[in-house]
Amino acid sequence: MCGIVGFIGNRKASEILIKGLKRLEYRGYDSAGIALCDNKSSCRIYKCKGKVQDLEDLIRNKDSEGTIGIGHTRWATHGEPNDTNAHPHMSMNGKFILIHNGIIENYAKLKKGLEEEGYVFKGETDTEVLVNLFEYVYLKHLTGEERHIPEVVVRETLKMVEGAYGLLILCTEYPDLIIAARKGSPLVIGVGTGEYFIASDATPIIEYTNSVIYLNDDDIAIISKTGLNLMNLKNIKQKPNIQQVDFNLDEIEKGGFDHYMLKEIYEQPRSIRDTCRGRLDFKSKYVHLGGLYNVFDELVNAKRIIIVACGTSWHAGIVGEYLFEEFARIPTEVEYASEFRYRNPIINKNDIVIAISQSGETADTLAAVKLAKKAGAIVIGICNVVGSSIPRETVAGVYTHAGPEIGVASTKAFTAQITVLTMMAMSVGLANKGLNREEFSQLVDELYIIPEKIEEILEKSECIREISEKIKDVSNSIYLGRGYLYPVALEGALKLKEISYIHAEGYPAAEMKHGPIALIDEKLPVIVIATKDNSYDKIVSNIQEVKARKGVVIAVVTEGDTTIKSIADYVIEVPKIDFALAPLLTVIPLQLMSYYIATMRGCDVDQPRNLAKSVTVE
Ligand code: AGP
Repeated sequence: MCGIVGFIGNRKASEILIKGLKRLEYRGYDSAGIALCDNKSSCRIYKCKGKVQDLEDLIRNKDSEGTIGIGHTRWATHGEPNDTNAHPHMSMNGKFILIHNGIIENYAKLKKGLEEEGYVFKGETDTEVLVNLFEYVYLKHLTGEERHIPEVVVRETLKMVEGAYGLLILCTEYPDLIIAARKGSPLVIGVGTGEYFIASDATPIIEYTNSVIYLNDDDIAIISKTGLNLMNLKNIKQKPNIQQVDFNLDEIEKGGFDHYMLKEIYEQPRSIRDTCRGRLDFKSKYVHLGGLYNVFDELVNAKRIIIVACGTSWHAGIVGEYLFEEFARIPTEVEYASEFRYRNPIINKNDIVIAISQSGETADTLAAVKLAKKAGAIVIGICNVVGSSIPRETVAGVYTHAGPEIGVASTKAFTAQITVLTMMAMSVGLANKGLNREEFSQLVDELYIIPEKIEEILEKSECIREISEKIKDVSNSIYLGRGYLYPVALEGALKLKEISYIHAEGYPAAEMKHGPIALIDEKLPVIVIATKDNSYDKIVSNIQEVKARKGVVIAVVTEGDTTIKSIADYVIEVPKIDFALAPLLTVIPLQLMSYYIATMRGCDVDQPRNLAKSVTVE
């Protein structure tokens, strides 16, 4: 899940590429590189291990002229992060230069064949094999006129390739062109006047144009300054579908916050309001999800719901499971998309499959969607990125209107996903009599005031920062929750793990006695999410069990709770709320705590090591 960017026009490409790579750096930050071309002089490649800033320092005082260029920021899959494995890669005889996001699965076999043809490789990447395959096809595989038709070279080469790719290709044979090709990994083309911007997503493009074309699988685009020629691998001409991007530059700036993650935590009152806007009608106590209109009856009468997702989206899925079973009384299962797609699952016709994904590009979730579609299930998407792959694969869906989420650790997308799942379960529950009108109206009232209750919690950030200070040096921790708060415990643990590198495990509180309790001592903080509900007394006993082993208890409790206050070491109060909506409030202190601990430990909060925002490879 690398970041790809390209420019062809009359401006200085290097500036646009560097700025674009900085916008895409959340997709991977192991190494970076650019290649610059223009009709007059040869192509120049600059690349290095490290961040885009290191690349910018590298090209300072170098020849960075050129009005055509491609740029890449890497998340290493094959070959360690170093200068040689950094992209762009040039073919052995210098005919082709390319950047790649994805994985070439049959690269080893292709490499062997190319070595037999005399090709020598400098690094360990699958991409270096691919660029040399293009050259081999161009020099040896094709004969006569064909060689001089760029799309023929690309098509013939890609026919030999298995795997996923988002590619930008430069060829010294056709110096005034950029060739783009997509299969599995996202690519967007920004349409300007006499210029084109190409990128893995729209964030580097909106500074210049809001008109974009989302490439589909097997699309090939031949792009020059004067035009764009779109076709597919079967050589069928495609009509470009130009769409407008619905977010602006401010939304992808830090807005005065130190980190995108903190900005996105504080944006949650707005992102939840935006996700409810036009859908949750407080006055007439109504929920309307237009994106589900064509499948609503099937949803209401569903025999089974299967939720597929990864990471934080999977945690939101578990909350969804509890909501659909409680409000709509529909049996619901939550599956790790990566496991679901390979375990030959039982999928019945008309099963409802809900795919949850912030980026809409997560490879395993996308594959699970395709598998479910093939099996005849009705596949619905809950995604945050308009125009991304999963929404384009599903028959219906609901966008979370959280706005661009740049911080690698997902925060506002999680609460927006839960907001959508809550509205879905409520409206299905009302329709299939799982909920009566009064219960439904009460939930509308409670959901409607969630944003202001989150604002109240955010005002307590200083107290949360002080508690974080107390545990910032630990190396392990446990998160506990019951019912709807069990997935919140999982999410809290994931946030701490991924940005502070402290090992943390989330558990259903009662599970603690079956093993994890052995870990407890005075050095282990146990974060217990314990707001008032039907199992409150049980969670109080769990806290006493931890205290009996001298564990340090940090409890998230309902405002005014005195019982737990008298037992726990630290408490963080959240406003009173219907238990089914408690995940939307109780996760906020956990997001803030992980943020403060990570910053106190000097971690790169927005770009945690080894992670990337959108996992577009398996
Ligand atoms: C969460 O903070 C992580 N970034 C990661 O677990 C993420 O939730 C997962 O990769 C799924 O991403 P998606 O929602 O874009 O599909």
